[in-house]
Amino acid sequence: MSNIFEDLESTESITPTIFKDKRPLDHRFLPDKLVHREEQIRQIAKYWVDVLNNVTPSNVTLYGKTGTGKTAASKFAREQLIDIANKKNVFVKVEYVRCTDYTTEYQVLAQLCNKLGRDVPNRGWTKGEVVNTFRDIFKTNAFGRKLHLIVILDEIDILLDKDGDGILYTLTRTENVSVLCISNYLDFKNLIKSRVTSSLNDKEIVFPPYGANQLADILSERAELSFCEGVLDSDVIPLCSAMAAKEEGDARYALDLLKNAGELAFDEDCEKVESDHVRRAKDRIEHNKVSEIISTLPLQQQRVLEAILNLTKQDEEITSGKLYDAYKDISKKDAVTYRRIFDFINELEMLGIISTNTISRGRGKGRTNIIKLQCDEDLLETTIYTI
Ligand SMILES: Nc1ncnc2c1ncn2[C@@H]1O[C@H](COP(=O)(O)OP(=O)(O)OP(=O)(O)O)[C@@H](O)[C@H]1O
Ligand SMILES: [Mg+2]
Repeated sequence: MSNIFEDLESTESITPTIFKDKRPLDHRFLPDKLVHREEQIRQIAKYWVDVLNNVTPSNVTLYGKTGTGKTAASKFAREQLIDIANKKNVFVKVEYVRCTDYTTEYQVLAQLCNKLGRDVPNRGWTKGEVVNTFRDIFKTNAFGRKLHLIVILDEIDILLDKDGDGILYTLTRTENVSVLCISNYLDFKNLIKSRVTSSLNDKEIVFPPYGANQLADILSERAELSFCEGVLDSDVIPLCSAMAAKEEGDARYALDLLKNAGELAFDEDCEKVESDHVRRAKDRIEHNKVSEIISTLPLQQQRVLEAILNLTKQDEEITSGKLYDAYKDISKKDAVTYRRIFDFINELEMLGIISTNTISRGRGKGRTNIIKLQCDEDLLETTIYTI
């Protein structure tokens, strides 16, 4: 039998190709310039530049909605700083920590210690031991010269929510350490106690959502690296940009649309990517998103959703009482309590899969919650019954 990969590779090279290199369309790709973020990067640099004179830089916080370039800008600034620090022989390290991967103070500090050459086990030590080991790196002049450390804490809300603000307390009170926090929420400081806010004393930089024209510039840069010349119809980039501008100016979504549109064109052996591919790419992305959310829900929640689906198909107006009865029919013996159903309803609403609307039935009759499905019925049905 011939090799399946070899076969694929050779067919790809004879069919009219759409992509010359798909990597630049990947979220993790860091382009060598970030258009429309020059100002934000300059601001980060303005604070970080102190380190080149052996002064610990101010702490910085980046705010902005999803896909506004916060992670990319911080990584870009990091590369530039390391580059110049090497040239100037300044001993600075910038460590990037994604708080979805390291969700407690212990884990973050252990990770930092390990990166800086101190072995700390992933669990087992007391927090005090880890803190001391971390601080020791800076106290004892462990590297024979003064180390400056900048810690980028990306998606910090998750860590603060789960484990409190101890990590910020420790980092901001360690000599030669400064932090750059990245948050989606302007009010993330509510999760921090005042003694920490005062030692954080951070400079804030806001990342506004991208407009359609800005997104078009970002996509054009990436498209040039990714697509073969002339394969993109002229309305493809404007359409992806307009659609993503509506989704709160999310550059990640814009890139996803462009990539998926290209993949559809490729799969269909088309010579060009057209606006119709973009529209179908949108459906495909939404489809994947909904299926992923539903298939990772806990079992009882999936059953609640199944009950909502059944009632919707019967054209019933769905009240919480009716929903509970339908849910019990599905769950039988291991059904959760009526009260718990309200938590499930809230969670499903937050995920955008259903909506609820409280209506008044008139004097003395109280108020009723009406539940409606917000995702495609067929999609939900196929997902639920194939899990
Ligand atoms: N100005 C830009 N120029 C080029 N690419 C960009 C720009 N802004 C964002 N991108 C790209 O868009 C994608 C999303 O950006 P990024 O991950 O930095 O967003 P984010 O603000 O960190 O979002 P989230 O809050 O969801 O983490 C990345 O692939 C990034 O490279
Ligand atoms: Mg990010």
